[in-house]
Amino acid sequence: MGNRVGVVGAGYVGLTSAACLAHLGHHVVCMDNDESKVRSLCAGEVSIVEPGLPELVQEGLAENRLVFTSDPGQLGECEVVLLCLPTPMGAGGKADLGVLEDALETLSSTLSPDCVLVTKSTVPVGTAQRVPAIAGLASSAVVSNPEFLREGRAVEDFLHPDRVLVGAAEQDGEAADRVAELYAGTGAPVLRCDTASAELAKYASNAFLAVKLSFVNTLAELCEQVGADITKVTAAMGLDDRIGPAFLAPGPGWGGSCLPKDTRALLRGAEATGVDFALVRDALRANDYQRALVMRKIRRAVTGAIDGSLAGTRIGVLGLTFKAGTGDLRESPAVAIARQLSRHEAVVTAYDPCVPERDHTDLDGIQVVDDPYLVAKGAAAIVVLTEWPEFQTLDWAKLATYVDQAVIVDTRNLLDERRLGDAGFAVVGTGRAC
Ligand code: UGA
Repeated sequence: MGNRVGVVGAGYVGLTSAACLAHLGHHVVCMDNDESKVRSLCAGEVSIVEPGLPELVQEGLAENRLVFTSDPGQLGECEVVLLCLPTPMGAGGKADLGVLEDALETLSSTLSPDCVLVTKSTVPVGTAQRVPAIAGLASSAVVSNPEFLREGRAVEDFLHPDRVLVGAAEQDGEAADRVAELYAGTGAPVLRCDTASAELAKYASNAFLAVKLSFVNTLAELCEQVGADITKVTAAMGLDDRIGPAFLAPGPGWGGSCLPKDTRALLRGAEATGVDFALVRDALRANDYQRALVMRKIRRAVTGAIDGSLAGTRIGVLGLTFKAGTGDLRESPAVAIARQLSRHEAVVTAYDPCVPERDHTDLDGIQVVDDPYLVAKGAAAIVVLTEWPEFQTLDWAKLATYVDQAVIVDTRNLLDERRLGDAGFAVVGTGRAC
């Protein structure tokens, strides 16, 4: 039968939540104030790259369990309303709650006074408690139910989560039950707690992943210095249940719309209470340093010296998105590095399977092409910055005929060094003696 659920915000979290909840049998009204986005969604068109999402949106529309609207009035009959709004990085690294606050003010006159408000976007500790007052709905229960969706795997993560976290004040136990019920179809374990713990758990999870990645990136540098192989080191570490095999791949630094923002927000939030989270600060510093390290590697590969000039040198870039499986360029280390190369007067040509030639308005100085082979033309080096699997199956012998110098800097250890060696390339990997 399902519940009547409202979702405010049709970004990747809101849209995924709406489509998946409809798939689980609920009746969902998804509201966004971007009218053109709503029109496209009503026609079943999804503009973000998210595997399985268009199919679920179309299924929900066809089965009349999913409605898109820009009219907040349509949320009036919803028993539960999920707030899925952006909380971008604001001044000093603090989360900016302006969009959430504005939306709550708009919704105050339309929501049913006994609906359960659910904070799903990442919000600073204490936000859930403030929500009823901001929304002018003093009697509403608020439940913190943070999302743990990875871009590119959001549908999979929603339908098969490791855990569902439901935070509520003691007196809101019934509201928490209603939120937990929404996920009954996933079979996932539901963890109940207070709102502050749920809010902090979200920041803590992202910051912990960031620390893990910075650890691995620095470890990779150490491997290069002592003649060890990061792949072997992390394989051994990952077999320890207490460490686990995930999130142990080195790269050009971690990015995306969540890890950098949430890590900074946790640090600032801790500082505000007098807690010095030095470990998190160091993880952020290590992440900036990682980009500098990649730049040094590229310079050395191209010029023979870590401070050699790149002026006028052609460099081919493979990958611009912050990771494979998404079209998202926000806080992408690949974009940052391509921009730095361009700022150092290299002539940069880039290819990314999810960044079409026409969409590169914010990539000043970088020529984006629709054909991966074009990045090799006259290049003094090809730099792999995103781990798109399709780069592994390129015709490297053909690419070798286009380049000026057959050198690859593989920041993700994506490519098969032996195959590339056969094609005539020298490969500079990450965390391997070179
Ligand atoms: C992250 C979290 O993983 C999700 O659990 C969370 O829900 C989401 O943020 C969010 O807060 O909304 P996402 O931003 O999609 O998800 O990105 P990740 O898959 O975590 O990757 C983050 C960065 O780490 C990327 O730049 C990626 O390339 C890098 N990474 C990841 C590595 O360099 N090595 C790895 O082994 C894994």
